[in-house]
Amino acid sequence: MLGMTELAPQVAKMTIEGGYRLSGEVSASGSKNGALAIMAATLLVKGEIVLHNIPHIGDVCTMIDMLHALGAKADLSADGVLVVNASTISQSEAPPDLVKKMRASVSVLGPLLARTGWARVAIPGGCDIGSRPIDFHIKGIRALGASVRNDHGVVEAQCDNLIGAKVYLDFPSAGATQQIMTAASLAQGTTVIENAASEPEVTDLASFLVQCGAKIQGAGTGTIQVEGVSHLHGTEYSIIPDRVEVGTFALAAANTRGDVFIRGALSEHNTALLQKLLEIGVAVRAEETGLCVVARRGCIATDIVTMPYPGFPTDLQQPIGAVLATADGTSIITEKVYEHRFKYLGELNRMGADTHTENRTAVIRGVPKLHGASVSACDLRAGAALVIAALAADGITEISDMEHVYRGYEQFTSKLTALGAVVRAEEVCFC
Ligand code: UD1
Repeated sequence: MLGMTELAPQVAKMTIEGGYRLSGEVSASGSKNGALAIMAATLLVKGEIVLHNIPHIGDVCTMIDMLHALGAKADLSADGVLVVNASTISQSEAPPDLVKKMRASVSVLGPLLARTGWARVAIPGGCDIGSRPIDFHIKGIRALGASVRNDHGVVEAQCDNLIGAKVYLDFPSAGATQQIMTAASLAQGTTVIENAASEPEVTDLASFLVQCGAKIQGAGTGTIQVEGVSHLHGTEYSIIPDRVEVGTFALAAANTRGDVFIRGALSEHNTALLQKLLEIGVAVRAEETGLCVVARRGCIATDIVTMPYPGFPTDLQQPIGAVLATADGTSIITEKVYEHRFKYLGELNRMGADTHTENRTAVIRGVPKLHGASVSACDLRAGAALVIAALAADGITEISDMEHVYRGYEQFTSKLTALGAVVRAEEVCFC
């Protein structure tokens, strides 16, 4: 067993003793990506908004800081209820220090522009997983009639009125679809977004906006139609469960030959993953109240191609890669969304995995067992993958740079511990 020494608070390190089956029940938290998009969209609304199921994670905390900096009121309670009132926003410039922390900060651009006629946002930072341009966002906002300057890493947009237009996206980008949908909600006339993203978080944002009085049709399909309205009003809304967190726990259960019920999971949001779990020999049962995952034996190799929803999600590519590292046979992963999402495989190799990558393809030759090592979480989902690997590895794994992971997983340590994992880490409290 691990010693009882707690890690120093400033060190975001997790220590895992592998080899314990996960079993029991865990509750899904609210969706990180859904919450962030909806929180940014509250800037469109004059009136009070009550949001339920908001996760206490680093990125939510950053977005709350952003809302405060822009002059909105935002209070998050311990039980995940966020009350926002952006009636009094006084600023249209997103503070660069907050934008640097989180890619999703760019989502305030459209709401600020639609609400005030002017907005300034520095190009966002976030995970180092590949080039993350915002050209589709800019193209969409320009199509709605705004003049946009993009100089020295800062985007400045201005308009008298936004006017509805037809926008075709070269790739069904979730962020650009959400950006254009929010801006178009207060535009004059009708906007049609073609080749729109159909991610559940896009649909969640549309449902929230409709509850605020927006007129949106087609969310969840490739064509979204937004008829602009003059103003939006307050509402009460509950964020969908986090399908990536659900997938992470399902894969952790699979890798430890565990037996886990994920309460609140919406199986219909994870169809691609559930099919892959069946393929690799894991039993999954969708129930009305959640998802049951049972793995009685080792997994079998498979091939993965990441794609926009409803394809296999890029955010679960790293977590499933960790499982395939000890699967029986050779797996090939093709990453079609982000070109740098294979860095974690180098860390898995330090734990004894046999992988190599070339451009957007990774070949993973399953080995019988990984062993504990000192590894580093190079980004949010890479960290989750290392945790999944460590849970089933021989011996003790020390994962550094876990602050990336705490950006996106609520109470990760205590949820894993409650399922029987032997984990030591500073439980970081954010908001
Ligand atoms: C969101 C999610 C992220 C997830 C990703 C893909 C949030 C906060 N993050 O990110 O967890 O991994 O969807 O499901 O919701 N692209 C461009 N130009 C643009 C915008 C995107 O070329 O203007 C490209 C990106 O480089 C990437 C692809 O489109 O290759 C998909 O990106 P996108 O769907 O926009 O991802 P995000 O919304 O940033």
